[in-house]
Amino acid sequence: MALITLRKLLDQAAVGGYGVGGFNVNNMEQIQAIMEAAKETNSPVILQASRGARKYANDRFLYHLMMAATEIYPEIPTVLHQDHGSKEACMSAVDMGFTSVMIDGSLLEDGKTPSPYEYNVNVTKEVVAYAHAKGVSVEAELGCIGGIEDGAGIGEGANNFLTDPDQAVEFVKETGVDALAVAIGTSHGVYKFSKKPDHGVLVMERIIEIHKRLPDTHLVMHGSSSVPQELLAMINQYGGQIKPTWGVPIEEIQLGIQHGVRKINVDTDTRLAITAAIRKFFIEHPEKFDPREYMGEARSFNQQVVADRMRAFGQAGHGGDFK
Ligand code: G3H
Ligand code: 13P
Ligand code: ZN
Repeated sequence: MALITLRKLLDQAAVGGYGVGGFNVNNMEQIQAIMEAAKETNSPVILQASRGARKYANDRFLYHLMMAATEIYPEIPTVLHQDHGSKEACMSAVDMGFTSVMIDGSLLEDGKTPSPYEYNVNVTKEVVAYAHAKGVSVEAELGCIGGIEDGAGIGEGANNFLTDPDQAVEFVKETGVDALAVAIGTSHGVYKFSKKPDHGVLVMERIIEIHKRLPDTHLVMHGSSSVPQELLAMINQYGGQIKPTWGVPIEEIQLGIQHGVRKINVDTDTRLAITAAIRKFFIEHPEKFDPREYMGEARSFNQQVVADRMRAFGQAGHGGDFK
């Protein structure tokens, strides 16, 4: 029972009025950290792998590590999700046994250039047909999320790329997707905002507007790391050089959850947690060299951030909803 589809998870999250974090994984420790956080908080889980993660770890390694997690934690409802896939990546993920894929047709095949609307509709429809035939859920994206998608980190001043609510209605009708990632001014990576974002920058009204028109479509927020100031301070205290930056405030995400956001993607925050732990460990223990010690510290920090997000998004306590 451990493996479930994104559709099943988000349908239930909509009934319960909560959101679920989509946490990126690249290696064993990150997977262990997320599963332990889920156990600690009694949460359902979305483990998501980008194309870069699959390349880094090798498809087979990553898939079997995630499957090992479902064997070890059979009581935790778990979605295996492809993050930001091309058509090819989505199809191979379906063939491998993922239970959900994100087709990112907002960009052309190069993964960089914003695509025409028709291209996005067509490629999404192809992936929906392929995935749904095998019982796999599909997330798609409309509009452009900054950072990896514009090459420049457009958290601020991203207006041209925001999701158009009318187009969102048409897109969902034409493609039949299970979940829709919307662009509301967030961006991927650590450099999102040069100060705590206000309503002019992070356009939560778009979410409210889109949800009003598409009340049955699960909305997804990408680029939703909160970039904790204490992790930045710790990294810099121990030799890091990250410039001042702010992420997406948790209260804005919670507002989104009240208006149809069901999946919240977080990668940068766990990267920061891992880096903070390892930097601190190396400075405090220059004599040590056993990777299990510093990777173990990194895993604990990663778990802590994920458990915090699970509580904040409301998925905590809902691990038993899927029996
Ligand atoms: O959407 C971006 C995620 O943070 C994954 O990043 O492509 O470097 O694995 P990545
Ligand atoms: P962050 O870079 O804000 O963690 O966003 C991750 C993401 O959207 C993965 O798809
Ligand atoms: Zn993303």
